[in-house]
Amino acid sequence: MPFALSLLTDSPSAVATPLLAVALAADEPLPDALHDLDRRLAGTLGRSIARRDFRGGRDETLHLAGVESAGAERVLLVGMGKVRDRGPAVRRAAAVAARAAAKLGTGAIAFYAPALDAGGVEQAGIGLALGAWRYDELLTPAPEAERRAPLEQGAVVAESGADGADGAAGGVAAAEAIAAGYAVARRLAMMPGNVCTPDTFVETGRELADRHGMALTVLGRTELEAEGMGSFLSVAQGTPQDPKLVALEYRRGGDARPLVLVGKGLCFDSGGINLKPGEGMFNMKFDMCGAAGVMGAMEAIARLGLAVNVVGVIGSTTNMPSGTAMKPGDVVRAMSGKTIENHNTDAEGRLVLCDLLHWVKRYEPAAVVDAATLTGAVVIALGHTAVGVFGSDDALTQEVLAAGRRASERGWELPMFDEYREQLKSDVADLKNVGGRAAGAITAAWFLRAFVDDAYPWVHLDVAGTAYAETDLGWLPKGPTGTPVGTFVEFVRGRAG
Ligand code: BES
Ligand code: MN
Ligand code: ZN
Repeated sequence: MPFALSLLTDSPSAVATPLLAVALAADEPLPDALHDLDRRLAGTLGRSIARRDFRGGRDETLHLAGVESAGAERVLLVGMGKVRDRGPAVRRAAAVAARAAAKLGTGAIAFYAPALDAGGVEQAGIGLALGAWRYDELLTPAPEAERRAPLEQGAVVAESGADGADGAAGGVAAAEAIAAGYAVARRLAMMPGNVCTPDTFVETGRELADRHGMALTVLGRTELEAEGMGSFLSVAQGTPQDPKLVALEYRRGGDARPLVLVGKGLCFDSGGINLKPGEGMFNMKFDMCGAAGVMGAMEAIARLGLAVNVVGVIGSTTNMPSGTAMKPGDVVRAMSGKTIENHNTDAEGRLVLCDLLHWVKRYEPAAVVDAATLTGAVVIALGHTAVGVFGSDDALTQEVLAAGRRASERGWELPMFDEYREQLKSDVADLKNVGGRAAGAITAAWFLRAFVDDAYPWVHLDVAGTAYAETDLGWLPKGPTGTPVGTFVEFVRGRAG
Protein backbone atom coordinates (compact mmCIF):
# COMPACT_ATOMS: atom_id res chain seq x y z
CA MET A 1 0.00 0.00 0.00
CA PRO A 2 2.60 2.55 -0.99
CA PHE A 3 1.42 6.02 -1.93
CA ALA A 4 2.43 6.99 -5.47
CA LEU A 5 2.75 10.61 -6.55
CA SER A 6 2.50 11.92 -10.10
CA LEU A 7 2.19 15.14 -12.06
CA LEU A 8 -0.75 16.04 -14.29
CA THR A 9 -0.28 18.91 -16.71
CA ASP A 10 -3.90 18.85 -17.92
CA SER A 11 -6.18 21.75 -17.19
CA PRO A 12 -8.24 21.12 -14.02
CA SER A 13 -11.39 20.74 -16.10
CA ALA A 14 -9.85 17.88 -18.08
CA VAL A 15 -8.47 15.85 -15.17
CA ALA A 16 -10.15 12.47 -14.88
CA THR A 17 -10.09 11.57 -11.20
CA PRO A 18 -12.44 10.24 -8.54
CA LEU A 19 -11.65 13.36 -6.47
CA LEU A 20 -10.27 16.71 -7.52
CA ALA A 21 -9.23 18.92 -4.61
CA VAL A 22 -9.09 22.64 -5.34
CA ALA A 23 -7.25 24.80 -2.82
CA LEU A 24 -8.25 28.45 -2.52
CA ALA A 25 -7.16 31.23 -0.20
CA ALA A 26 -9.59 33.08 2.08
CA ASP A 27 -12.14 35.09 0.11
CA GLU A 28 -10.30 34.37 -3.13
CA PRO A 29 -12.58 34.78 -6.17
CA LEU A 30 -12.71 31.83 -8.52
CA PRO A 31 -9.46 32.00 -10.52
CA ASP A 32 -9.71 32.22 -14.33
CA ALA A 33 -8.00 28.84 -14.65
CA LEU A 34 -11.04 27.24 -12.99
CA HIS A 35 -13.75 28.80 -15.20
CA ASP A 36 -13.76 25.81 -17.58
CA LEU A 37 -14.12 23.44 -14.67
CA ASP A 38 -16.90 25.59 -13.23
CA ARG A 39 -18.77 25.48 -16.55
CA ARG A 40 -18.52 21.66 -16.59
CA LEU A 41 -19.95 21.67 -13.08
CA ALA A 42 -22.83 23.91 -14.13
CA GLY A 43 -21.51 26.89 -12.17
CA THR A 44 -21.35 25.09 -8.79
CA LEU A 45 -17.93 26.45 -7.84
CA GLY A 46 -18.80 30.08 -8.52
CA ARG A 47 -22.16 29.73 -6.73
CA SER A 48 -20.59 28.11 -3.66
CA ILE A 49 -18.18 31.00 -3.37
CA ALA A 50 -20.77 33.69 -4.13
CA ARG A 51 -23.16 32.24 -1.51
CA ARG A 52 -20.26 32.08 0.92
CA ASP A 53 -20.93 28.40 1.48
CA PHE A 54 -17.18 28.18 0.98
CA ARG A 55 -15.03 31.01 2.32
CA GLY A 56 -11.56 29.58 1.95
CA GLY A 57 -10.83 29.48 5.70
CA ARG A 58 -7.86 27.43 6.77
CA ASP A 59 -8.71 23.69 6.77
CA GLU A 60 -12.27 24.48 5.59
CA THR A 61 -13.63 21.95 3.10
CA LEU A 62 -16.70 21.79 0.90
CA HIS A 63 -17.51 18.54 -0.86
CA LEU A 64 -19.28 18.88 -4.22
CA ALA A 65 -20.70 15.75 -5.81
CA GLY A 66 -19.73 16.73 -9.36
CA VAL A 67 -21.70 15.87 -12.50
CA GLU A 68 -21.54 12.69 -14.48
CA SER A 69 -20.06 14.14 -17.63
CA ALA A 70 -17.22 15.97 -15.91
CA GLY A 71 -13.66 14.65 -15.69
CA ALA A 72 -13.63 14.85 -11.91
CA GLU A 73 -16.23 12.63 -10.24
CA ARG A 74 -16.11 14.74 -7.09
CA VAL A 75 -14.68 18.15 -6.29
CA LEU A 76 -13.45 19.13 -2.86
CA LEU A 77 -12.85 22.80 -2.18
CA VAL A 78 -10.14 23.25 0.45
CA GLY A 79 -9.43 26.53 2.20
CA MET A 80 -5.93 27.83 2.78
CA GLY A 81 -6.96 30.75 4.98
CA LYS A 82 -5.14 34.06 4.75
CA VAL A 83 -1.96 33.04 3.00
CA ARG A 84 1.20 34.64 4.31
CA ASP A 85 3.59 31.89 3.33
CA ARG A 86 2.37 29.96 0.30
CA GLY A 87 4.45 26.77 0.67
CA PRO A 88 3.15 25.79 4.10
CA ALA A 89 -0.41 26.79 3.10
CA VAL A 90 -0.31 24.52 0.04
CA ARG A 91 1.25 21.65 2.01
CA ARG A 92 -1.42 21.90 4.67
CA ALA A 93 -4.33 22.13 2.22
CA ALA A 94 -3.03 19.10 0.32
CA ALA A 95 -2.82 17.12 3.55
CA VAL A 96 -6.38 18.11 4.51
CA ALA A 97 -7.54 17.04 1.04
CA ALA A 98 -5.76 13.70 1.20
CA ARG A 99 -7.21 12.96 4.62
CA ALA A 100 -10.69 13.68 3.26
CA ALA A 101 -10.03 11.41 0.26
CA ALA A 102 -8.79 8.64 2.55
CA LYS A 103 -11.98 8.93 4.61
CA LEU A 104 -14.17 8.80 1.52
CA GLY A 105 -12.25 5.84 0.13
CA THR A 106 -11.75 7.31 -3.32
CA GLY A 107 -8.44 5.49 -3.75
CA ALA A 108 -6.92 8.38 -5.69
CA ILE A 109 -6.82 12.16 -5.49
CA ALA A 110 -5.78 15.00 -7.77
CA PHE A 111 -4.82 18.30 -6.15
CA TYR A 112 -4.95 21.72 -7.72
CA ALA A 113 -3.92 25.09 -6.35
CA PRO A 114 -3.67 28.19 -8.54
CA ALA A 115 -0.28 29.10 -10.03
CA LEU A 116 1.94 26.41 -8.51
CA ASP A 117 5.64 26.75 -9.29
CA ALA A 118 8.05 23.81 -8.85
CA GLY A 119 8.36 24.51 -5.12
CA GLY A 120 4.59 24.66 -4.79
CA VAL A 121 4.22 21.35 -6.61
CA GLU A 122 6.71 19.85 -4.16
CA GLN A 123 4.81 21.19 -1.16
CA ALA A 124 1.53 19.88 -2.59
CA GLY A 125 3.08 16.44 -3.14
CA ILE A 126 4.50 16.29 0.38
CA GLY A 127 1.16 17.40 1.81
CA LEU A 128 -0.75 14.71 -0.11
CA ALA A 129 1.62 12.03 1.14
CA LEU A 130 1.50 13.30 4.73
CA GLY A 131 -2.31 13.29 4.63
CA ALA A 132 -2.48 9.84 3.07
CA TRP A 133 -0.08 8.25 5.56
CA ARG A 134 -1.41 5.69 7.99
CA TYR A 135 -0.11 3.00 10.30
CA ASP A 136 -2.28 -0.08 9.96
CA GLU A 137 0.25 -2.86 10.31
CA LEU A 138 -1.23 -4.00 13.60
CA LEU A 139 -4.89 -3.79 12.56
CA THR A 140 -7.01 -6.75 11.59
CA PRO A 141 -8.44 -5.89 8.16
CA ALA A 142 -12.13 -4.89 8.15
CA PRO A 143 -14.58 -7.27 6.47
CA GLU A 144 -14.57 -6.85 2.67
CA ALA A 145 -18.01 -5.23 2.54
CA GLU A 146 -17.06 -2.47 4.96
CA ARG A 147 -13.65 -1.79 3.55
CA ARG A 148 -12.86 1.54 1.89
CA ALA A 149 -10.24 1.77 -0.81
CA PRO A 150 -6.94 2.89 0.70
CA LEU A 151 -5.60 6.13 -0.74
CA GLU A 152 -2.75 4.97 -2.95
CA GLN A 153 -2.43 7.57 -5.68
CA GLY A 154 -1.95 11.28 -5.55
CA ALA A 155 -1.49 13.64 -8.48
CA VAL A 156 -0.55 17.30 -8.45
CA VAL A 157 -2.26 19.26 -11.19
CA ALA A 158 0.03 21.96 -12.53
CA GLU A 159 -0.41 23.51 -15.92
CA SER A 160 3.14 24.28 -17.02
CA GLY A 161 3.51 27.38 -14.92
CA ALA A 162 6.50 29.50 -14.00
CA ASP A 163 8.97 26.60 -13.87
CA GLY A 164 7.63 24.60 -16.80
CA ALA A 165 6.77 20.90 -16.88
CA ASP A 166 10.37 19.84 -16.08
CA GLY A 167 10.43 21.99 -12.97
CA ALA A 168 7.08 20.61 -11.89
CA ALA A 169 8.24 17.02 -12.49
CA GLY A 170 11.29 17.79 -10.35
CA GLY A 171 8.96 19.06 -7.65
CA VAL A 172 7.07 15.77 -7.65
CA ALA A 173 10.31 13.75 -7.54
CA ALA A 174 11.57 15.76 -4.56
CA ALA A 175 8.21 15.36 -2.85
CA GLU A 176 8.39 11.59 -3.29
CA ALA A 177 11.86 11.50 -1.72
CA ILE A 178 10.91 13.68 1.23
CA ALA A 179 7.59 11.89 1.73
CA ALA A 180 9.46 8.58 1.87
CA GLY A 181 11.64 10.05 4.62
CA TYR A 182 8.61 11.22 6.57
CA ALA A 183 7.06 7.77 6.21
CA VAL A 184 10.16 6.05 7.62
CA ALA A 185 10.13 8.36 10.65
CA ARG A 186 6.40 8.22 11.32
CA ARG A 187 6.29 4.45 11.06
CA LEU A 188 9.13 4.00 13.53
CA ALA A 189 7.52 6.54 15.86
CA MET A 190 4.07 4.98 15.74
CA MET A 191 5.33 1.48 16.49
CA PRO A 192 4.62 0.48 20.08
CA GLY A 193 7.53 0.10 22.46
CA ASN A 194 7.43 -3.68 22.24
CA VAL A 195 7.65 -3.54 18.44
CA CYS A 196 10.18 -0.71 17.98
CA THR A 197 13.23 -1.61 20.06
CA PRO A 198 16.88 -0.58 19.72
CA ASP A 199 17.26 -3.54 17.36
CA THR A 200 14.60 -2.04 15.11
CA PHE A 201 16.89 0.95 14.61
CA VAL A 202 19.69 -1.44 13.68
CA GLU A 203 17.45 -3.24 11.17
CA THR A 204 16.23 0.07 9.73
CA GLY A 205 19.80 1.33 9.52
CA ARG A 206 20.93 -1.85 7.78
CA GLU A 207 18.08 -1.68 5.31
CA LEU A 208 18.84 1.98 4.51
CA ALA A 209 22.56 1.28 4.22
CA ASP A 210 21.98 -1.61 1.80
CA ARG A 211 19.48 0.22 -0.36
CA HIS A 212 21.42 3.49 -0.60
CA GLY A 213 25.02 2.32 -0.34
CA MET A 214 25.70 4.00 2.99
CA ALA A 215 28.27 2.80 5.52
CA LEU A 216 26.75 1.41 8.71
CA THR A 217 28.25 1.32 12.20
CA VAL A 218 26.48 -0.47 15.04
CA LEU A 219 27.67 -0.47 18.64
CA GLY A 220 26.01 -2.62 21.34
CA ARG A 221 26.54 -2.72 25.08
CA THR A 222 30.00 -4.30 24.86
CA GLU A 223 31.25 -1.77 22.29
CA LEU A 224 29.72 1.15 24.17
CA GLU A 225 31.62 -0.03 27.25
CA ALA A 226 34.83 -0.17 25.23
CA GLU A 227 34.20 3.41 24.08
CA GLY A 228 33.72 4.48 27.70
CA MET A 229 30.16 5.73 27.21
CA GLY A 230 29.31 5.50 30.89
CA SER A 231 26.56 8.07 30.62
CA PHE A 232 24.62 6.38 27.77
CA LEU A 233 25.15 3.02 29.50
CA SER A 234 23.79 4.29 32.82
CA VAL A 235 20.41 4.75 31.13
CA ALA A 236 20.62 1.30 29.56
CA GLN A 237 21.58 -0.51 32.77
CA GLY A 238 17.95 -0.95 33.83
CA THR A 239 16.87 -2.84 30.73
CA PRO A 240 17.82 -6.31 29.46
CA GLN A 241 17.55 -5.02 25.87
CA ASP A 242 20.88 -4.34 24.23
CA PRO A 243 21.31 -0.58 23.77
CA LYS A 244 22.37 0.46 20.29
CA LEU A 245 24.30 3.26 18.70
CA VAL A 246 23.64 3.29 14.95
CA ALA A 247 25.59 5.51 12.55
CA LEU A 248 24.83 5.86 8.83
CA GLU A 249 27.33 7.59 6.56
CA TYR A 250 26.12 9.08 3.29
CA ARG A 251 29.11 10.30 1.28
CA ARG A 252 28.42 12.19 -1.92
CA GLY A 253 30.32 15.38 -1.08
CA GLY A 254 33.96 14.56 -1.81
CA ASP A 255 36.29 15.22 1.09
CA ALA A 256 34.18 17.94 2.69
CA ARG A 257 33.64 17.69 6.44
CA PRO A 258 30.29 16.01 7.05
CA LEU A 259 27.11 17.41 8.49
CA VAL A 260 26.14 15.24 11.44
CA LEU A 261 22.56 14.61 12.51
CA VAL A 262 22.06 13.14 15.98
CA GLY A 263 18.84 11.72 17.44
CA LYS A 264 17.51 10.59 20.82
CA GLY A 265 16.04 7.11 20.50
CA LEU A 266 14.36 6.15 23.76
CA CYS A 267 12.02 3.36 22.66
CA PHE A 268 10.22 3.87 25.93
CA ASP A 269 10.82 6.32 28.75
CA SER A 270 9.14 5.23 31.98
CA GLY A 271 11.25 7.76 33.88
CA GLY A 272 13.21 4.96 35.55
CA ILE A 273 13.37 5.00 39.38
CA ASN A 274 11.95 8.55 39.15
CA LEU A 275 8.93 6.87 37.61
CA LYS A 276 6.61 9.08 35.55
CA PRO A 277 2.94 9.39 36.54
CA GLY A 278 0.78 6.71 34.90
CA GLU A 279 -1.44 9.14 33.04
CA GLY A 280 -0.15 9.62 29.51
CA MET A 281 2.85 7.38 30.08
CA PHE A 282 1.96 5.37 26.97
CA ASN A 283 2.99 8.41 24.92
CA MET A 284 6.57 7.79 25.96
CA LYS A 285 6.84 5.26 23.14
CA PHE A 286 7.32 8.47 21.14
CA ASP A 287 10.53 9.27 23.00
CA MET A 288 12.48 8.05 19.99
CA CYS A 289 11.18 10.68 17.56
CA GLY A 290 14.56 12.41 17.30
CA ALA A 291 16.17 9.16 16.21
CA ALA A 292 13.27 8.38 13.88
CA GLY A 293 13.78 11.84 12.38
CA VAL A 294 17.43 11.08 11.69
CA MET A 295 16.53 7.80 9.95
CA GLY A 296 13.81 9.51 7.92
CA ALA A 297 16.14 12.34 6.94
CA MET A 298 18.81 9.87 5.78
CA GLU A 299 16.20 8.13 3.61
CA ALA A 300 15.13 11.44 2.04
CA ILE A 301 18.67 12.77 1.58
CA ALA A 302 19.76 9.58 -0.18
CA ARG A 303 16.68 9.56 -2.40
CA LEU A 304 17.29 13.20 -3.31
CA GLY A 305 20.86 12.23 -4.17
CA LEU A 306 22.21 15.41 -2.58
CA ALA A 307 25.90 16.13 -3.22
CA VAL A 308 26.90 16.32 0.45
CA ASN A 309 28.47 14.27 3.20
CA VAL A 310 26.02 13.50 5.98
CA VAL A 311 26.35 11.21 8.99
CA GLY A 312 23.22 10.22 10.89
CA VAL A 313 23.77 8.94 14.42
CA ILE A 314 21.17 7.64 16.86
CA GLY A 315 21.41 6.31 20.40
CA SER A 316 18.67 3.90 21.33
CA THR A 317 17.62 2.25 24.58
CA THR A 318 14.74 2.07 27.05
CA ASN A 319 14.54 3.87 30.42
CA MET A 320 13.20 1.38 32.95
CA PRO A 321 12.97 1.02 36.73
CA SER A 322 14.55 -2.24 37.82
CA GLY A 323 16.94 -3.73 40.33
CA THR A 324 19.82 -2.80 38.10
CA ALA A 325 18.54 0.64 37.12
CA MET A 326 20.47 3.84 37.80
CA LYS A 327 19.42 5.62 40.98
CA PRO A 328 19.04 9.27 41.88
CA GLY A 329 22.35 10.39 43.31
CA ASP A 330 24.48 8.00 41.25
CA VAL A 331 27.54 9.52 39.61
CA VAL A 332 28.69 8.26 36.23
CA ARG A 333 31.59 9.14 33.96
CA ALA A 334 30.76 10.18 30.41
CA MET A 335 32.92 9.34 27.41
CA SER A 336 34.36 12.86 27.48
CA GLY A 337 35.72 12.15 30.98
CA LYS A 338 33.26 14.47 32.73
CA THR A 339 31.48 13.11 35.78
CA ILE A 340 27.69 13.51 36.01
CA GLU A 341 25.55 13.37 39.11
CA ASN A 342 22.19 11.82 38.28
CA HIS A 343 19.67 13.98 40.09
CA ASN A 344 16.68 12.57 38.30
CA THR A 345 16.63 9.34 36.32
CA ASP A 346 13.88 10.80 34.13
CA ALA A 347 16.39 13.27 32.66
CA GLU A 348 17.82 10.36 30.65
CA GLY A 349 17.77 11.72 27.11
CA ARG A 350 20.61 14.13 27.78
CA LEU A 351 22.61 11.25 29.31
CA VAL A 352 22.37 9.38 26.01
CA LEU A 353 22.94 12.41 23.80
CA CYS A 354 25.98 13.73 25.67
CA ASP A 355 27.97 10.62 24.82
CA LEU A 356 26.79 10.73 21.19
CA LEU A 357 27.77 14.40 20.92
CA HIS A 358 31.24 13.51 22.16
CA TRP A 359 31.54 10.38 20.02
CA VAL A 360 30.72 12.25 16.76
CA LYS A 361 33.83 14.41 17.14
CA ARG A 362 35.61 11.58 15.27
CA TYR A 363 33.88 12.75 12.08
CA GLU A 364 35.30 16.28 12.38
CA PRO A 365 31.82 17.64 11.65
CA ALA A 366 31.23 20.86 9.73
CA ALA A 367 28.13 21.18 11.90
CA VAL A 368 26.03 19.02 14.20
CA VAL A 369 22.27 19.26 14.61
CA ASP A 370 20.63 17.04 17.20
CA ALA A 371 16.93 16.42 17.72
CA ALA A 372 15.32 15.02 20.82
CA THR A 373 12.02 14.79 22.66
CA LEU A 374 14.09 16.15 25.50
CA THR A 375 11.96 18.13 27.93
CA GLY A 376 8.42 18.70 29.11
CA ALA A 377 9.62 22.24 29.75
CA VAL A 378 9.79 23.03 26.03
CA VAL A 379 6.12 22.11 25.78
CA ILE A 380 5.36 24.61 28.55
CA ALA A 381 7.43 27.27 26.76
CA LEU A 382 6.32 26.78 23.15
CA GLY A 383 3.38 24.40 23.22
CA HIS A 384 2.82 22.08 20.29
CA THR A 385 3.43 24.77 17.69
CA ALA A 386 7.15 25.46 17.64
CA VAL A 387 10.31 23.42 17.95
CA GLY A 388 12.67 24.68 20.68
CA VAL A 389 15.90 25.75 18.99
CA PHE A 390 19.18 26.23 20.86
CA GLY A 391 22.61 26.85 19.39
CA SER A 392 26.24 27.53 20.03
CA ASP A 393 26.68 29.42 16.76
CA ASP A 394 24.33 32.16 15.58
CA ALA A 395 24.83 31.63 11.85
CA LEU A 396 24.05 27.93 12.15
CA THR A 397 21.07 28.61 14.39
CA GLN A 398 19.59 31.03 11.84
CA GLU A 399 20.28 28.52 9.08
CA VAL A 400 18.39 25.77 10.91
CA LEU A 401 15.52 28.12 11.79
CA ALA A 402 15.18 29.00 8.09
CA ALA A 403 15.28 25.31 7.16
CA GLY A 404 12.45 24.67 9.63
CA ARG A 405 10.35 27.44 8.08
CA ARG A 406 10.82 25.98 4.59
CA ALA A 407 9.74 22.60 5.93
CA SER A 408 6.59 23.85 7.73
CA GLU A 409 8.31 22.86 10.99
CA ARG A 410 8.70 26.25 12.58
CA GLY A 411 11.23 26.63 15.35
CA TRP A 412 11.81 29.35 17.90
CA GLU A 413 15.15 30.15 19.45
CA LEU A 414 15.50 30.14 23.23
CA PRO A 415 18.47 31.92 24.83
CA MET A 416 21.64 30.20 25.95
CA PHE A 417 22.72 32.92 28.40
CA ASP A 418 25.68 31.82 30.56
CA GLU A 419 23.67 32.33 33.75
CA TYR A 420 21.52 29.27 33.01
CA ARG A 421 24.54 27.02 33.06
CA GLU A 422 25.06 27.68 36.78
CA GLN A 423 21.92 25.67 37.51
CA LEU A 424 23.78 22.48 36.56
CA LYS A 425 26.42 22.78 39.30
CA SER A 426 26.75 19.63 41.40
CA ASP A 427 28.10 19.10 44.91
CA VAL A 428 29.94 15.91 43.99
CA ALA A 429 30.46 15.76 40.23
CA ASP A 430 31.45 18.03 37.32
CA LEU A 431 27.78 18.68 36.63
CA LYS A 432 24.33 17.26 37.37
CA ASN A 433 21.75 16.19 34.84
CA VAL A 434 18.97 18.54 35.95
CA GLY A 435 18.88 22.25 36.68
CA GLY A 436 15.58 22.63 38.50
CA ARG A 437 12.17 23.64 37.18
CA ALA A 438 13.13 27.10 35.95
CA ALA A 439 14.10 27.24 32.25
CA GLY A 440 14.19 23.45 32.06
CA ALA A 441 14.53 23.29 28.28
CA ILE A 442 17.46 25.71 28.36
CA THR A 443 19.35 23.96 31.15
CA ALA A 444 18.90 20.68 29.24
CA ALA A 445 20.47 22.34 26.19
CA TRP A 446 23.30 23.66 28.37
CA PHE A 447 23.92 20.14 29.65
CA LEU A 448 24.40 18.96 26.05
CA ARG A 449 26.57 21.94 25.21
CA ALA A 450 29.02 20.98 27.95
CA PHE A 451 29.84 17.92 25.83
CA VAL A 452 29.92 19.74 22.49
CA ASP A 453 32.66 21.83 24.06
CA ASP A 454 32.93 24.08 20.97
CA ALA A 455 34.40 21.22 18.93
CA TYR A 456 31.94 22.10 16.13
CA PRO A 457 29.04 24.50 15.48
CA TRP A 458 25.98 22.93 17.05
CA VAL A 459 22.22 23.30 17.14
CA HIS A 460 19.85 21.40 19.38
CA LEU A 461 16.18 20.88 18.49
CA ASP A 462 13.81 20.04 21.34
CA VAL A 463 10.89 18.38 19.57
CA ALA A 464 9.05 17.12 22.67
CA GLY A 465 6.01 19.28 21.81
CA THR A 466 6.04 18.89 18.04
CA ALA A 467 7.17 15.39 17.05
CA TYR A 468 3.83 13.83 17.87
CA ALA A 469 0.32 15.11 18.38
CA GLU A 470 -1.88 14.01 21.26
CA THR A 471 -4.94 15.35 19.45
CA ASP A 472 -6.03 15.50 15.83
CA LEU A 473 -4.39 18.56 14.24
CA GLY A 474 -6.87 18.79 11.40
CA TRP A 475 -4.25 18.57 8.69
CA LEU A 476 -2.43 15.71 10.44
CA PRO A 477 -3.95 12.99 12.58
CA LYS A 478 -3.11 12.25 16.19
CA GLY A 479 0.28 10.56 16.36
CA PRO A 480 3.69 11.26 14.86
CA THR A 481 3.96 14.40 12.73
CA GLY A 482 7.31 13.50 11.15
CA THR A 483 9.05 16.50 12.72
CA PRO A 484 12.10 16.96 12.55
CA VAL A 485 12.56 15.14 9.20
CA GLY A 486 11.79 18.24 7.14
CA THR A 487 14.08 20.52 9.13
CA PHE A 488 16.98 18.09 8.79
CA VAL A 489 16.38 17.65 5.05
CA GLU A 490 16.02 21.36 4.32
CA PHE A 491 19.14 22.12 6.36
CA VAL A 492 21.19 19.57 4.41
CA ARG A 493 19.61 20.61 1.12
CA GLY A 494 20.55 24.20 1.84
CA ARG A 495 24.18 23.12 2.25
CA ALA A 496 24.06 21.12 -0.98
CA GLY A 497 23.36 24.42 -2.78
N1 BES B 1 11.16 12.25 27.32
C1 BES B 1 11.02 13.20 28.34
C2 BES B 1 10.57 14.57 27.84
C3 BES B 1 9.19 14.65 27.26
C4 BES B 1 8.16 15.14 28.02
C5 BES B 1 8.94 14.30 25.95
C6 BES B 1 6.91 15.27 27.49
C7 BES B 1 7.68 14.43 25.43
C8 BES B 1 6.66 14.92 26.19
C9 BES B 1 12.35 13.41 29.07
O1 BES B 1 13.15 12.30 29.13
C10 BES B 1 12.02 13.80 30.46
O2 BES B 1 11.42 13.01 31.14
N2 BES B 1 12.39 15.00 30.86
C11 BES B 1 12.11 15.46 32.16
C12 BES B 1 13.33 16.18 32.67
C13 BES B 1 13.24 16.57 34.11
C14 BES B 1 13.30 15.34 34.98
C15 BES B 1 14.38 17.49 34.42
C16 BES B 1 10.92 16.40 32.08
O3 BES B 1 10.83 17.16 31.13
O4 BES B 1 10.05 16.33 32.95
MN1 MN C 1 12.67 11.07 30.79
ZN1 ZN D 1 12.90 10.90 27.64
